[in-house]
Amino acid sequence: MGITTQDYLQTVGIFKEWTISNLTRLRLDLLAALLAMAGYKFSELLVPHQELAENAYPIEVQVATASADAPAAPKGPEPILALLATADVNAGIKTAKKCTACHVFDKGGKNKVGPGLWNIVNADKGAIDGYAYSAALAEMEGAWDYQALNGFLYKPKAYLAGTKMNFAGLKKPQDRANVIAYLRSLADAPVALPSDADIAAETSTLTQ
Ligand code: HEC
Repeated sequence: MGITTQDYLQTVGIFKEWTISNLTRLRLDLLAALLAMAGYKFSELLVPHQELAENAYPIEVQVATASADAPAAPKGPEPILALLATADVNAGIKTAKKCTACHVFDKGGKNKVGPGLWNIVNADKGAIDGYAYSAALAEMEGAWDYQALNGFLYKPKAYLAGTKMNFAGLKKPQDRANVIAYLRSLADAPVALPSDADIAAETSTLTQ
């Protein structure tokens, strides 16, 4: 029996199909291999080999230790008392616009997001009638004297962990001095400005 055209075509057809499916698979295998290699290289970038980590030279870190006589760089708010005598109340009113989103400054002003701030200098902390303070502020001892205000207004959340005053703070000492001078003016009888002795005492505690 000779090979018919039909047999021939069928054989060619089968062969073609086989070739295509195998080539496709081959290509997929290659692709997978490439991807795996790339992934390996990439992971090597992210996580250096253990071996490398072990062989790497330990980096000597010079830990700077503050010497006893050099004053450490101030980390918190700068002293404020000396700035108060020359602080600018009008500039303070402008800066205090930032506070008005949450506070009212008028005498008898209502509590808003924050308590009313009339007569706040030297007032007891967390003691404005009818205002629901955070537990942190409600439990705080003492009064809002100049230095306490300086600390709080510099960075409320650092001064008092748990306060609900969501305000980043006034980083410039002059801004704080101006605002505190403005707060001082919000009273029937503003408290005294700091004396020279107060100023000297504050400076020395902060730079020692
Ligand atoms: C986003 C709202 C918000 C802004 C802005 C804000 N405060 Fe407050 N403030 C509060 C809240 C709320 C409290 C109560 C905090 C608590 O109970 O922990 C508070 C408390 C205070 C207190 C303590 C009052 C007390 O009776 O013990 C002072 C002082 C104060 N703020 C001053 C200021 C000043 C000055 C500014 C602007 C420079 C300012 N705040 C900006 C929300 C704000």
